[in-house]
Amino acid sequence: MTREPRMPTDTSNRKPASPAMPSKDNATASDQAAPVLPTILSARGITKTVGTGAGELTILKGIDLELKAGELTLLMGPSGSGKTTLLSILGCILSPTTGDLDIAGETASGQGPEGLADIRRRHVGFVFQSYNLFPTLNALENLMLALDVRDSDIADAEAAASDALKSVGLGHRMGAYPGRMSGGEKQRVAIARALAGAPSVILADEPTAALDSENGRAVMELMAQVAKDKSRAVLCVTHDHRTLGYADRVITIEDGRIVSDERGTHKSPDRSTDHAVEVEQPVEQPVQQQPASRVAAAAAASGFKLRRRPNA
Ligand SMILES: Nc1ncnc2c1ncn2[C@@H]1O[C@H](COP(=O)(O)OP(=O)(O)OP(=O)(O)O)[C@@H](O)[C@H]1O
Ligand SMILES: [Mg+2]
Repeated sequence: MTREPRMPTDTSNRKPASPAMPSKDNATASDQAAPVLPTILSARGITKTVGTGAGELTILKGIDLELKAGELTLLMGPSGSGKTTLLSILGCILSPTTGDLDIAGETASGQGPEGLADIRRRHVGFVFQSYNLFPTLNALENLMLALDVRDSDIADAEAAASDALKSVGLGHRMGAYPGRMSGGEKQRVAIARALAGAPSVILADEPTAALDSENGRAVMELMAQVAKDKSRAVLCVTHDHRTLGYADRVITIEDGRIVSDERGTHKSPDRSTDHAVEVEQPVEQPVQQQPASRVAAAAAASGFKLRRRPNA
């Protein structure tokens, strides 16, 4: 079966968020009016303890969290509070020490490394601060490589990659190499890469940390668009208070525990100019070699295991 990437939807009809809601621990009648959104990810009682030279360190101390479809949730908290560790567990990169995790109706708890990797490939898209693009592949090929590594049921990886790049406003930069792109463009390629696999959950770890304010705003606007898909949840770790204006929900974590969880008004007053930044660039000339061959060669040179044959 062919799966198409889900495109970000238009936010022009985006409803203003309801006024600040009380925290989970202090629910009142006002949050009964909140729309009932499907749960995409559910984590219960998540703990993580690691061994260190100085003994055991418990990083996460019992996290209960549900991510809802159609929402952009920000995860904030001081450095060292456990944000990246939690994101890694929710994205099936790390196993929790204890606790249960369900993603898109599948149970991740108790799975071994292969089972976790399988759930991760099918349901999770990651966006990192440092973009993690392959420097010798252009934008299109970076997406094709990701699709080839992660999935086997997209019939035409080149078409899916192309559609995903167009959806983030980079249709004119498909042939650009990471070294020739701005930070904002690279992050939009990384978001397109996450989208191309049509994941249920997108997890982003400080996606704007390396960007100037204009590019940071464009990236957050894109994340908010991506989150409007009613079958997808987006969780974004951030230290950046400028990102609050895009959030449907803000969770704060301190010392491995959730200390607040609020839906509501974090909105910046003016989003009228919030559009993905279109950097005027010459259209790149297509490379001579077929993208699929270049992707396969780069994968082989780097030891990537392709799960689908390019152009299969
Ligand atoms: N594998 C590990 N072994 C030992 N300590 C670890 C390990 N992983 C994380 N830690 C420690 O756990 C704490 C939480 O780390 P984590 O990276 O999750 O924090 P964070 O909230 O993402 O911080 P930052 O905002 O700086 O990125 C830190 O003190 C970190 O040093
Ligand atoms: Mg971190």
